[in-house]
Amino acid sequence: MRAAVITKFGPPEVLQIRDLHVPSIGVGDVLVRTRAIGLNFAEVFARLGYYPGIPKPPFVPGIEFSGVVDATGASVRGIKKGDRVFGFSKHNAYAEFVAVPREFILRMPRTMSFEDAAAFGVASLTAYHGLVTLAHLMRGERLLIHAAAGGVGTAALQIARHLGATIFATVGSEAKRKIVEELGAKVVINYSRDDFAAVLRNETKGEGLDVIFDSVGGRLMRKGWKLLAPMGRYVLFGFAAVANDRGVNKFRALQEAMSVPLIYPPSLVTKNVSLMGFNLYFLAQKTKYLRTVMEQLLRWYAKGILRPVVGSVFPFDKIAEAQAFLQSRKSVGKVVVTVA
Ligand SMILES: NC(=O)c1ccc[n+]([C@@H]2O[C@H](COP(=O)([O-])OP(=O)(O)OC[C@H]3O[C@@H](n4cnc5c(N)ncnc54)[C@H](OP(=O)(O)O)[C@@H]3O)[C@@H](O)[C@H]2O)c1
Repeated sequence: MRAAVITKFGPPEVLQIRDLHVPSIGVGDVLVRTRAIGLNFAEVFARLGYYPGIPKPPFVPGIEFSGVVDATGASVRGIKKGDRVFGFSKHNAYAEFVAVPREFILRMPRTMSFEDAAAFGVASLTAYHGLVTLAHLMRGERLLIHAAAGGVGTAALQIARHLGATIFATVGSEAKRKIVEELGAKVVINYSRDDFAAVLRNETKGEGLDVIFDSVGGRLMRKGWKLLAPMGRYVLFGFAAVANDRGVNKFRALQEAMSVPLIYPPSLVTKNVSLMGFNLYFLAQKTKYLRTVMEQLLRWYAKGILRPVVGSVFPFDKIAEAQAFLQSRKSVGKVVVTVA
């Protein structure tokens, strides 16, 4: 089978297509012939060598996919050869076949395309976990979503709109403004150009924000932290600020890392604010919770409340270009790669 291998840590060119053996399956595993692969910023960091817990190269990255079941292990129930499925993997999804435990596989809704299925899981799970499970976002609350035009951002916008929040959003360029407005943001700020904190102080008449959903971190976080209203929740779930379009500039990364707010825990008590963080990659053992959330997300999909936003589609042999595009900050919604 063809697979895209991170041959060494570095820029997009280190991701190269190689011929590998089709993976073998254990008794509880499902082998899927992939039809589409959803790209995630986590894999950009994995290629750069900046993701915690990743293997040493060479390895095949990739955490979400859709496709058709090719074989099942002896103990697998409820899924059979030929079923259209989507699922999650710790690595290895950038390939024509992927083998994963049965609990990481879900059946695709009949009306869902392979591209949408590969784009649905990680972004919507991330948005749900941060906004619903952790932040308990409530109707009428003021929410700020950073990098709102991206894969996770567009899922977060839809969930927040459904929950009845008042949404403020940031984007890195004017080209991204329209989609974020269409998905329900009341105010969209181009944070590459304007001071988002000054705009939001003005927009909220100094009252601040109830929830901040931040995957960028760095100096942005220091400014955002000061905007929390009493009972405010700050959800940090990524640190894109350290990246640039070729890699990670170590000096800049250090500057960004040192720019986060220094938080003295007793001040959380007096100010009535909370800081939360999460990484779903390290929550894979919570299969019951994750499957329950996915069932809820699929119900929202069926009702048209939540739809994956697939902004661009690349063929499998252009997977390195697809990753470079995601890293360039030009992508909108999810970047998906199709497998012929
Ligand atoms: N903790 C978790 O479980 C979890 C799960 C999924 C994703 N994440 C994180 O959530 C974020 C979004 O993931 P995604 O896959 O949906 O990616 P994405 O949002 O589609 O793409 C990343 C976006 O981050 C923004 N960004 C800000 N500063 C950047 C920089 N210095 N370099 C590159 N991009 C920068 C860009 O949007 P603008 O140009 O509009 O700023 C860019 O388009 C990532 O940071 C990812 O690591 C975390």
